[in-house]
Amino acid sequence: MATPDFETYCQGLFDHKTASGKPEVLKGYRVLSCTQYILGPSCAAYLAELGAEVIKIETPRRGEPMRHTTPFNEPLLFPLSRWVPEAGTGLGFFGANTNEEFITLDFHRPEARQAMLELAAKTDVFVQNFRPGTFDRWGMGYQHLSKVNPRIIYQWLGGFGGWGPGRVRASYDILGQAMGGAFGITGEAADRGGTPSKHTIWLADYWGGMMAAVTVLAALYYRDTVSGKGTFIEYSQVHGVQRMLEYSLPLYGRYGVRRERWGNWDTELCPHGIIQCGKSSYPDSKNPQEAEVGYILITAHTDEDFKKLTDVIGRKDLATTYAKHDDRVKAENQGVLYEALEAWAKDKTKEDVATILDKAGLNNQPVWNAKEVAENPHWKMRGAVQWYDDPIYGDLHHQGPAFMMSDTPPRLKWALKPVGADNERVYGRLLGWSKAKLAKMEEAEVI
Ligand SMILES: CC(C)(COP(=O)(O)OP(=O)(O)OC[C@H]1O[C@@H](n2cnc3c(N)ncnc32)[C@H](O)[C@@H]1OP(=O)(O)O)[C@@H](O)C(=O)NCCC(=O)NCCS
Repeated sequence: MATPDFETYCQGLFDHKTASGKPEVLKGYRVLSCTQYILGPSCAAYLAELGAEVIKIETPRRGEPMRHTTPFNEPLLFPLSRWVPEAGTGLGFFGANTNEEFITLDFHRPEARQAMLELAAKTDVFVQNFRPGTFDRWGMGYQHLSKVNPRIIYQWLGGFGGWGPGRVRASYDILGQAMGGAFGITGEAADRGGTPSKHTIWLADYWGGMMAAVTVLAALYYRDTVSGKGTFIEYSQVHGVQRMLEYSLPLYGRYGVRRERWGNWDTELCPHGIIQCGKSSYPDSKNPQEAEVGYILITAHTDEDFKKLTDVIGRKDLATTYAKHDDRVKAENQGVLYEALEAWAKDKTKEDVATILDKAGLNNQPVWNAKEVAENPHWKMRGAVQWYDDPIYGDLHHQGPAFMMSDTPPRLKWALKPVGADNERVYGRLLGWSKAKLAKMEEAEVI
């Protein structure tokens, strides 16, 4: 048979619609997730997308705080639990708890500690992101769980690490990014009136969860192929942000130079930034959000592309004055060039600009909003964004797993479940609790 071309080959292998018929790569591994907000939950969710059996343990009745956090603190997916049917879960909980089982346990209670030790004995991985020492205080730290299960991989995610003078404070994504140095280099430059800026999405959390998931996989590999033993893993949210600062620290170390904020432009390449287009893409829309003018990324930093760009915008003079990249990239010249580009784009939408630049063979990308991402045929076809029929909540629009594997594809099975939805099944199956015991524990609000 003839070898198919690359596109046909990839589509045949990776089409997300065929995923459910294929095996799951982490099937057989069990993860207990005592996690809250996004940092810890996302770690567990990545493992669940890969097929691990992830059991999330939350506070009885209300569940973890993220269910009540976004958007606008409004609970949207009903019911929150069978005990609190009038409330729901906020959409912010969505992306970080996929494919999991949901049970409850009040960690303060002595019965909870016993249940946790029994669950841990039957678990491969334990993930938690509480303050340093909280789980040890509750008798559920690695030192305790490894006694009942020496093979357990214990992933703790915290703000500043478990030791050192700065370890005890509370941490959140925003703090991680501020202390880690990310906000210091994000935002418009000071001499253009800018200030440090936070990102709207919780990058440090989702990135941290991914780093932790990678480490868990490495620890499982080592346990299963080399040592036969578990591992205690510590991940610091702040340290994780520092890890992605690129050359900021080497630059400071070698030359004492502090990397600057440079807004929507680039310190290394020019033009290679985002410009404003003067017209809205949706002039007839009744939605005030769509009255906003558009923005587009333009990259034409090579001398050849820059010359083409100056032809397109009718400014051949710039091609002569700034023929060399070394001149274009200088701080004082970047302003002149971006100003010329914005003057040209003033009477255009971002799509107009894209069409013109595409025709000239110049790389560009309109800055998309959620609607534009959701409606794009390429990403829809690939399952990056998908409608699916959630077993509990019905039609949901969701992002699919961002990694693909030909033989063992990650997949979206369900978005979430109500608090404690799997209590009966998990405690019954794993710990052998009878219906009477379950009822007693529930009555006493241990679960
Ligand atoms: C998120 C954070 C600031 C919350 O701090 P906190 O609630 O003040 O303190 P802890 O983490 O020690 O959590 C203990 C509390 O968890 C709560 N809790 C959550 N789930 C619980 C459960 N199943 N059973 C009992 N208590 C539970 C209790 O209120 C408990 O407080 P208490 O013992 O005083 O009653 C802290 O956990 C933290 O810094 N984590 C590391 C960084 C991080 O992951 N941040 C969130 C993502 S951005």
